[in-house]
Amino acid sequence: MGTKVSWNFDNLLMGNVGKPLGLTEEAFSGALPQAQRAHEDLMQRRERGDLPFYDLPKRGEIVAEILEYSAEVRRRFTDVVILGIGGSSLGPAALQTALGRNPDNAESGPALHFPDNVDPFEFDALLGILDLENTLFNVVTKSGGTPETVAQYLIVRERLEHKLGDRYREHLVFTTDPQKGQLRQLASEEDIRTFSIDSGVGGRFSILTPVGLLPAALGGLDVKGLCEGAAFAAEEGTNGNISDNPAYRFALSLCLLRDNRGVGTVVMMPYCNRLLGMADWFRQLWAESLGKKIDLAGEEIFWGQTPEKALGATDQHSMVQLYMEGPFDKVICFLEVEDHGVDVVIPRIYPQKPDLNFWGGHTLSELITAEKHATEEALLQAGRPSMTALFPRVDAYSVGHFLMTLEIATVFAGSFLGINPLDQPGVELGKVLTKKRLSG
Ligand code: PA5
Repeated sequence: MGTKVSWNFDNLLMGNVGKPLGLTEEAFSGALPQAQRAHEDLMQRRERGDLPFYDLPKRGEIVAEILEYSAEVRRRFTDVVILGIGGSSLGPAALQTALGRNPDNAESGPALHFPDNVDPFEFDALLGILDLENTLFNVVTKSGGTPETVAQYLIVRERLEHKLGDRYREHLVFTTDPQKGQLRQLASEEDIRTFSIDSGVGGRFSILTPVGLLPAALGGLDVKGLCEGAAFAAEEGTNGNISDNPAYRFALSLCLLRDNRGVGTVVMMPYCNRLLGMADWFRQLWAESLGKKIDLAGEEIFWGQTPEKALGATDQHSMVQLYMEGPFDKVICFLEVEDHGVDVVIPRIYPQKPDLNFWGGHTLSELITAEKHATEEALLQAGRPSMTALFPRVDAYSVGHFLMTLEIATVFAGSFLGINPLDQPGVELGKVLTKKRLSG
């Protein structure tokens, strides 16, 4: 079994961080009745089947199908390109960044590429280095009509057919809605292998559907471990006792900081490069789910809390000055790793120079951990709240545990605030106007 993530919220409390941002026990106890209602609401909606993301980790048959398909593909192709954007790219890319280079990862297979954006220079450069004979394209779009993904697909489809003739379809696999959309239609018309994204699971909650699991399997990641960690989080996340439920505690703390203390920004700051993709994934989840003009009652609320990302220790030399001395409007969510899997000893090569010799004998792991603790302590002394998610190791189980915890936190925050976290009306207008600009 893998390792679980543990959370520490102590540095959010008034008794530790003090004024002006510390949260009081009264603030928590005052919010408990509303939090309890939010919990009951989620449990009822889950029971009715309206929140299927909770139950995704337990579907062994999909995992088996994905593993069977990917075993064959991993032998056959040298490169796999994931064509998707937003929730159809951030999650799978984050998994690859976190776990793709783990020493316990399966034997080497194809290289994965996530172009994501429609940057012409980058996309052309990627197509320029690929040998289409040995490349598989996984086209991922729930709606089947997202402009960026459709455009990339059309470019790729033409080049594949030009080079491979009718064999082009062997180089495509679609991940899309089980019934609706243009991609689903093409799949049946052109006989292209397709995996379904469960109905009722939107882009940013789809990491445990084939959207995330297929690229994970193609990259040789431990898909079963990922699902086991997420299943554990789904179990833990249904505990109605807020203090024993890290997802609820995380969400409630951020909502109270926002509404009672004016904390409009949450910065996710891993002290581990492999976890930076998790911060990208979280930014979309928290921003797109909770940044809303209208609440469930139809009242204008303009709610939102801006999720940012920073990298420790790198951003100690960039952003931390602002976090320490700028406006009192931020909370930091540190991601700390206990065991990085490898370590590097700093040598003692200048015994006669005490300032240099001081570092010798320590390791990079000790250094990055000391830097995290020092920054946390400095922020605390400056009255700046923070919390920590501690990963014993960056493995599939801990990553699955972490992802599901934050998905539950997001729907809980939505319910607590009376916001629909599953829609994104604010992105529609841009799509309509893009099409208008290209027409005629
Ligand atoms: O979370 C969401 O719903 C969005 O970010 C979508 O994932 C994104 O717009 C891509 O949509 P689709 O998968 O339909 O191409």
